[in-house]
Amino acid sequence: MLYFCGMNGLYGNMKRVLREGGMEDGEARAVVLLLLEKVCGWSAAEALMAEDDGSEEGKRVMEMVRRVAKGEPVQYVLGEAEFCGLRLKVEKGVLIPRVETEELVEWVVEEMGLRQRRNIENLMGEEREKGKEEEGEEEEGEEREEREGGGLQQCCSMEDKREGEEEDRRREGMRVLDVGTGSGCIAVALAKKLEGVKVEAWDVSEEALRVARENGKRCGVKVEFRRVDVLNLEPNSKTQELKNLKTQKTQNLKTQKLKNPKTQKPNHYDAIVSNPPYICEVERGEMEVNVVEHEPWGALFVPDDDPLVFYRKIAEMGRGMLKERGMLFFEINRRFGREVVQLLEGLGYREVELRQDMFGNDRMVKAIK
Ligand SMILES: C[S@@+](CC[C@H](N)C(=O)[O-])C[C@H]1O[C@@H](n2cnc3c(N)ncnc32)[C@H](O)[C@@H]1O
Repeated sequence: MLYFCGMNGLYGNMKRVLREGGMEDGEARAVVLLLLEKVCGWSAAEALMAEDDGSEEGKRVMEMVRRVAKGEPVQYVLGEAEFCGLRLKVEKGVLIPRVETEELVEWVVEEMGLRQRRNIENLMGEEREKGKEEEGEEEEGEEREEREGGGLQQCCSMEDKREGEEEDRRREGMRVLDVGTGSGCIAVALAKKLEGVKVEAWDVSEEALRVARENGKRCGVKVEFRRVDVLNLEPNSKTQELKNLKTQKTQNLKTQKLKNPKTQKPNHYDAIVSNPPYICEVERGEMEVNVVEHEPWGALFVPDDDPLVFYRKIAEMGRGMLKERGMLFFEINRRFGREVVQLLEGLGYREVELRQDMFGNDRMVKAIK
């Protein structure tokens, strides 16, 4: 027999803890239902009818709700967050993916999808043309053979070889790089949604990379995760490398030699995406306590005197690493829409487009190399 326990049952007791912690009614209700669904597998109706009978499960959810009441984000308490329809692992040390970032992913998927289709159509068109040409050449060859009475010599010019390499590159598929991957949310969602596209992702934090790798496995996608500090990449020019060779000690030199040529591949990516740290330290006071006290500082904040530091560095790097007409996508601080657009135009990017998020704030930028 089922009882309606409502405010006196487990649901009511959990909600009371949150309300006493200062949470408003609607949010408290949503959090309790979420915890009971994820931990106990209950529907809202089952949650409302459950008794607080001192069971192990009941004790567990009561403990979780106390942590939330003290300010810990519910996603850390549960150990997971939803993003683009995926259930991703999150833990302290890794930023909880935000709903605004889902909109950035949608934009990338739309644009990459368009390019992928265009590439395939072009390739198919070229193959058809090539097929026709080959038929023609075969006929000509046969005629010549008949005239000269001998076989044709195999000739492979440099031009043929270059064309072959270009075609191989296009067949290999498109490549995307996610800079500052955190939980891997952007990279994993892109790998899931863009079939045949190779996804790479960088982060400076080992903790983040460990979680991101787990998320890649969880979602059954292949992403190449690497530890890279994007603010300390050296210019990838020959002169710079030579200078490094002369001035650095052997130990440093080894990392330098390993890091640069492999990391900064010229004309390599079809798109670079990033949601880098972008909150100024002065904005800290306006933020919710559970964000400031629980989420990783290094994932959130930039110095007040250089708030665009990541955008500048990534955009400069993109000038070399993006293919011709490659795309750069950024999530931005709503205060700096105009500044980011100006920065990108100043670096020679074209067709710079600023978009708002679902709350009407300037939030995303796309630019073409
Ligand atoms: C705002 S979080 C974004 C995380 C994730 N992409 C998302 O959208 O939820 C920024 C990420 O950049 C990483 N990061 C900070 N400084 C970095 C650096 N110098 N090089 C590479 N990654 C960095 C942080 O560790 C963090 O994971």
